[in-house]
Amino acid sequence: MIDNEKVIREIGTPTYVYDVAAILDRIKYLRGKLDADILYAVKANSFIVKEIEEEIDGYEICSKGEFDICNSLDINRGKMVISGVHKDRPSIEEMLESYDDIRKYTIESLNQWELLTDVAKNCGRHIHALIRLTSGNQFGVCEEDLKYIIAHNDEAVIEIDGIEYFSGTQKHSIKKINKEADKLITLIDTLRVELGFTVREIEYGPGLPIFYYQGEEFDEEAFLDEVKLALDRIKEKGVKLSLEVGRSLVATSGRYYTSIGDMKSNKNGNFVILDGGINHLVYYGGTLGMRIPHFQVVRVTEDEAVNLNDEKKIEKLNKSVDEIPKELLVGTEDENGLITYNLHGSLCTVNDILVKNINSRRLKLGDVFIFENVGAYSSTEGISLFLSRDLPKIALCDKEGNLRVVREVIKTSNINLPRY
Ligand SMILES: Cc1ncc(COP(=O)(O)O)c(C=O)c1O
Repeated sequence: MIDNEKVIREIGTPTYVYDVAAILDRIKYLRGKLDADILYAVKANSFIVKEIEEEIDGYEICSKGEFDICNSLDINRGKMVISGVHKDRPSIEEMLESYDDIRKYTIESLNQWELLTDVAKNCGRHIHALIRLTSGNQFGVCEEDLKYIIAHNDEAVIEIDGIEYFSGTQKHSIKKINKEADKLITLIDTLRVELGFTVREIEYGPGLPIFYYQGEEFDEEAFLDEVKLALDRIKEKGVKLSLEVGRSLVATSGRYYTSIGDMKSNKNGNFVILDGGINHLVYYGGTLGMRIPHFQVVRVTEDEAVNLNDEKKIEKLNKSVDEIPKELLVGTEDENGLITYNLHGSLCTVNDILVKNINSRRLKLGDVFIFENVGAYSSTEGISLFLSRDLPKIALCDKEGNLRVVREVIKTSNINLPRY
């Protein structure tokens, strides 16, 4: 369990903290609920890959960079599926020349199949692969190409175990998942009838959803029960089923801490400037702060961290704002003692809006916003190089609540600096 006060006092802001015990529990929960192997999509968060190694069934690795991270952490290569739309020759050569224990590769196109075959042959390797079926975009191959590869593949070099299929993230329509299951089942049958090919394995990315915003209701348990029924239908075909999961595995385990660096008002509203921003925080579907994610605000006083909604601490909170000189007060309280604020980051773009129109007790410089559900994609998808702002620290929280910083602040000015 993450202790907010400890994070703020020991590490400061901006910081991400990931709760490792929560992720391990989540892996067990999803595996049990869906009765399938769980592969972790490393792109969602590369900072917890080592911590989950014992528990996770495998890793879906989509770039040479992700491979390098996992390999540097000594991750068991027998758990690595080397996926991703573009595998370049030098990267494939390096992996195949150096290692013969990588579990599997995916084939994303006819060219990539030829490349893999050529490099594997040159290195004297026999590898296992899945062919990625497209969902109608730049990823994977169409059914015709898939059949062509199966029919012309040199099994002595590449053993094709089955199919990979991922059609998008944040899928909450069980109808869509059932349709995808139907499509895979039909394909399994077609390949057997037309080519005498047995699909032994399906690696499917169901894009399991996370509900990020206040007011949203989602019965995950019931949804997963339905997903399981769809998956069971695929398994009835006698295939081994693995699920590629990113968001749903790690999102809820992460918190992002950012504190108020400045506040001001003008005729358009009250503005809070945080020491983070959209360079650090990405909520799927949350453009321009129009939807309110789950968050809390705390004020760290001399002896404790007080949640601004804690009615029992009103006196203490009021006392702490009494110290603010009148001319520096931002916004006017309504009859309920609340002020409407817009939360912004520190970037030079009007789009740097974290949340619009929140009603809060009076805020103060230094108050800390703690955003929930940021374990997936925030630290990897943000526009982190913009404005040469520093990258935040990252800490892991173990089951005893101990914090361990696994990335110190990184200065992006070093990355954005031309060198002559
Ligand atoms: C091929 C592939 N598999 C799995 C995932 C993980 O998706 P999610 O985070 O929705 O589980 C992605 C995400 O982009 C992906 O591209």
